[in-house]
Amino acid sequence: MPAVRLAPSILSADLGRLADDITRAEAGGADVIHVDVMDGRYVPNLTFGAGVIAAAHRVTSLPIDVHLMVVEPERYLEPFAGAGASIFTFHPNATRHVQRHLVAARELGMRAGLALNPADPLTLVAEVLHDLDLLLLMTVNPGFGGQRYIPASTDKIRRARALLDGHGGRIWLEVDGGITLETIAQAWQAGADTFVAGSAVFGTPDPETALRALRRRCAVDV
Ligand code: DX5
Ligand code: ZN
Repeated sequence: MPAVRLAPSILSADLGRLADDITRAEAGGADVIHVDVMDGRYVPNLTFGAGVIAAAHRVTSLPIDVHLMVVEPERYLEPFAGAGASIFTFHPNATRHVQRHLVAARELGMRAGLALNPADPLTLVAEVLHDLDLLLLMTVNPGFGGQRYIPASTDKIRRARALLDGHGGRIWLEVDGGITLETIAQAWQAGADTFVAGSAVFGTPDPETALRALRRRCAVDV
């Protein structure tokens, strides 16, 4: 069975107390801090930029896992690397020269990730596995926190696991959207190893306890 990495998303944090929320997530066993960058074009919502990435980086030693839901994500390679991003994940249908940007992310010292929407086929990443460190499967349509996990995602996770195992199993398989105490175990059993959770962590009064409970769910059978 794969490792369990927890990636709390600050999209659902209390932005007035961002440092506190990140510290609590770290205390609860977070492995990375997930930062959702939205531009109001690729997705309807508008969120953070390099300033917030730098602020998160200042308050934790955990890797900053940046998920870009923006058109032309390549414009942010250098600014986000400079702000302290460790993982740079973008949507392949938001740009043209996907392979070039994966290489550039690595050259800047980041792990290179691609994100697929629920309707995107796995074949969108099949030709660039050599250049990939992380595959993010959206288990909701991107743009907002607090949506419901799409049940068909579980089978897609299984197929993605097989694809990545066929390539040596080095690439992280991250799931994002609607991950809760009710859904995390099936995603884990299907082969995901990295779990983004926003509302299931920061939408609760106690993010530390919420993270521990999510991790425990991966140890039980579904
Ligand atoms: C949604 C974002 C997610 C979001 C998940 O487009 O990519 O990372 O924060 O939120 P929850 O866990 O509440 O579904
Ligand atoms: Zn995300």
